Amino acid sequence: MSKPAGATQQGPESGKRVPSRLIVTGIGELCSAKGTSPRGGAALGDVHTRRGQAIVCDGDRIAAIGDEAEILEEYGGPGADRVDAHGGLVIPGLVDAHTHPVFLGTREGEFEQRVAGASYVDIANAGGGIRSSLAGVRGATAHELLGALIPRLDRFLALGTTTIEAKTGYGLTVVDEIKGLDVIRDADQNHPVDLIATCLGGHDVPPEFTGRPQDWVEVVVKELWPEAASRASFADVFTESHVFGLEDSRRLMESARDAGLGLRMHVDQLTSLGGAELAAELGASSADHLEHVSERGIQALAERGVQPVLCPLVPLYLRETQEAPARAMVTAGLAPALSTDFNPGSCYCMSLFEVMSWGALRYGFSSGEALTAATLNAACTLGLGADRGTLEVGKRADIVVTDLPNARHLTYELGRSPVRAVVKDGRVAWDAPRFQSS
Ligand code: NIG
Ligand code: FE
Repeated sequence: MSKPAGATQQGPESGKRVPSRLIVTGIGELCSAKGTSPRGGAALGDVHTRRGQAIVCDGDRIAAIGDEAEILEEYGGPGADRVDAHGGLVIPGLVDAHTHPVFLGTREGEFEQRVAGASYVDIANAGGGIRSSLAGVRGATAHELLGALIPRLDRFLALGTTTIEAKTGYGLTVVDEIKGLDVIRDADQNHPVDLIATCLGGHDVPPEFTGRPQDWVEVVVKELWPEAASRASFADVFTESHVFGLEDSRRLMESARDAGLGLRMHVDQLTSLGGAELAAELGASSADHLEHVSERGIQALAERGVQPVLCPLVPLYLRETQEAPARAMVTAGLAPALSTDFNPGSCYCMSLFEVMSWGALRYGFSSGEALTAATLNAACTLGLGADRGTLEVGKRADIVVTDLPNARHLTYELGRSPVRAVVKDGRVAWDAPRFQSS
């Protein structure tokens, strides 16, 4: 995650690198979760909400937060840049813990098929779904894939998302999965948004392996994970009876762990297969989707402290009726993240603001709960809770300035981006048109 445009700037005379200082002023309300570890149960909605504050960024870190007048007296001298929030709500940079952004070509035809009544599995079994995205990735150069990814990252950033977990999974040959991971690394190095790479070699059985899925499993175990281990933080699998059942999933995940990769799993999304119990047994970093998780599955996740990553837009988008039992999970003490699951098939949406609203409407999350889930808890699933996800001194200076009057509007308003400016690593990385920081 070292970026070419780093958090320090060249001193014009000395030629020495001097830290940059940026102060966010004019904050109406500042709202943030607290701490470095996952928040579940009653602590999910326990956020700081304060008025009249200013934030000082020094280099890529938050150096101070306090009463604006005092902050300006202490830090506001020459050399400090300013961002004026014009009375808007300020929150931490959003963290999207589940995305599939490396692909070429979209699948609006499948969306129309579902609107007309077809199911996701019908479409997949007829050769569509994940398999229909393979040709695009396999036929593209890394350069072309990067060219498609960068504008998507621009949109994530403009929507206030400063860190994404980015999965491969539309290559499904060793060469094409590694190409996808290299594209994710290049994007991370060349764009303000941080990308945390996940190798999704267990996304589907490639068409060449139809009828013999175990052969693909062995290719992944023996060839892909060892190559991926130096390029990705995590491995992932789609545990579902039409893709990889429990035993194949176990083999994929245990071997990924042996290769040194962390584990994330798509589980109990379309049917109640017991994937949550497997994710718990394996001590995965996250168990994602969980629309059909059983009571036992929730208990197993709670016992092992495995975090759910919930994607409320996906059942909506797939026209599936069952929602993840999010409140039962929170009551059991689980610390959920909220994510988009951005991908060309089951959710073509990059907005975590939209997701937070749907977290309220579908799961009954308060604004504070939704914010914690889309920031601190999401960061914790990526092992980054000590580094980001809250507005606190010492954390990475990833800050979103909105035009919202207060934190309750985070979930209240649908269909418009409220983002005015985004600070990434202590620098203004995005400014809304007609919003000028001074
Ligand atoms: O998270 N569930 C598996 N993977 C994606 C769908 C990807 C696709 O349809 O292309 C998901 O929903
Ligand atoms: Fe997914």
